Amino acid sequence: MSLHSEKIIIIDFGSQTTQLIARRIREQKVYSEIHPYTITLAEIQQMQPSGIVLSGGPASVYDNDAPISDPGIFELGIPVLGICYGAQLMMQQLGGRVEMAEHREFGKAELKILYTGGIFAGMETDPAKYQVWMSHGDRVEQAAPGFVATATSDHSPYAALRHEDKPFVAVQFHPEVIHTLIGTDVLRNFIFDLCGCHPEWTMHSFIDATVKDIRDKVGKDKVICALSGGVDSSVTAALVHRAIGDQLTCIYVNNGLMRTGESESVLSFFRQKTHLRVIDIDATPYFLKELEGVADPEEKRKRIGFGFIKIFEEEAGKLGEVKFLAQGTLYPDVIESVVFHGKAPIKSHHNVGGLPERMQLDLIEPLRELFKDEVRELGLELGLPEEAIYRQPFPGPGLGIRIMGAVTAERLNIVRQADVIVLEEMKKSGWYRKVWQSFAVLLPIQTVGVMGDGRTYENVIALRSVDSRDAMTADWSQLPYDLIGRISSRIINEVRGVNRVVYDISSKPPSTIEWE
Ligand code: XMP
Repeated sequence: MSLHSEKIIIIDFGSQTTQLIARRIREQKVYSEIHPYTITLAEIQQMQPSGIVLSGGPASVYDNDAPISDPGIFELGIPVLGICYGAQLMMQQLGGRVEMAEHREFGKAELKILYTGGIFAGMETDPAKYQVWMSHGDRVEQAAPGFVATATSDHSPYAALRHEDKPFVAVQFHPEVIHTLIGTDVLRNFIFDLCGCHPEWTMHSFIDATVKDIRDKVGKDKVICALSGGVDSSVTAALVHRAIGDQLTCIYVNNGLMRTGESESVLSFFRQKTHLRVIDIDATPYFLKELEGVADPEEKRKRIGFGFIKIFEEEAGKLGEVKFLAQGTLYPDVIESVVFHGKAPIKSHHNVGGLPERMQLDLIEPLRELFKDEVRELGLELGLPEEAIYRQPFPGPGLGIRIMGAVTAERLNIVRQADVIVLEEMKKSGWYRKVWQSFAVLLPIQTVGVMGDGRTYENVIALRSVDSRDAMTADWSQLPYDLIGRISSRIINEVRGVNRVVYDISSKPPSTIEWE
């Protein structure tokens, strides 16, 4: 069953900006989803898309092993937009010629429009110029039969093309990136004028369709959900609860590695404000014992993950027969897990690693079509409060991976106090929501300081704050000096056992956001 009556499908040839195409289309309230280029014609037909976008990609269409989609796409009578590699593939498959360009174009370029209909409706022809963003080494040398150029740039005689009778358009530039100032207009013209879509995909319609879907799937069976208090699991729980009420039981496991007050606030919120049935387990002693003397980061992660599964399983076992596990997998997780062009997936995603197989549970993943910002919007629509929705991400292994080396009660105490100060100051200054994540890391190495008249020999706290869109890449946040200064002096003055604070100025890659 399809949840969406109108959809645009994007065929992915491996561009780093493919996800952006989907986001930009969804921002126009039209549902859009990404599929690998290996998708078959039958699968496409079954989806009945209103339009197809061929994404960009790093390959050359004339390479022997170039990724190629089924040329039968052009026989379906469905509008197609080719972007960069997708444009070149369209030309090649329909009888044009693509070659390596003498002048490659990377970054900003100026577009001269020759034809102001179709995707360029509402724009002006030469001498007007429009800033677009290019990234290509090949270019179209000869248009396929039936196609004409609709725009040029300094180095691309065919910066855009259209078929004179069929709904096929191609652009050498990337309309999905913000540096292409007319990008949104180009995509809007494609989805509304050429494809005839309507802006009807809203969170409200998503909730209605998903609630129905969950009810159909679950029937009268029981569902469990691991609630962490993070945005994804909170929104998942709220949505599933909206669908099936008390057939859902949430399990919150306090692994003893949570921040100050975290467990209390998560539990009181869900119990008082949402009427969700939540079982809470304080497994602090178990986890601290499991982690005793363990300094290796992977081993720590493994033990925390395994412990979580063990305790979750025990509690779920007490509920009688449970058939489903609800999990907050997001769209980027789904895409990252797909094998692309013979390469291994970027990461295999397991939210509650291993649970479904071990317990023989079927998965319910109501967020698997959504991006993070859409999940936030959905949460607000479901009535979750802003403070739950705009929380910064917090890793499953908690403070366990923010203490370098072995975890002890004393070190947890130090990092918790420092963390409270970081969050207080970030919120007070208005920076909490501007950055992706901000937190304290305890480095249990001693350095020399002086306090009062005495010499000290104590721990270091590293302050980490990063900007990111999706945690795949990140850069350190350029926080104001006075804010960093205030955090540093408060931590050193208020947290016993710390006499030095440093600021982490590494980007991801090559570093990661967390320190372990
Ligand atoms: P890294 O450190 O890999 O982190 O750059 C990327 C994002 O993922 C979070 N993170 C985790 N979240 N379980 C989680 O639920 C984990 O094991 C985990 N490890 C890292 C991290 O906080 C950042 O937002």
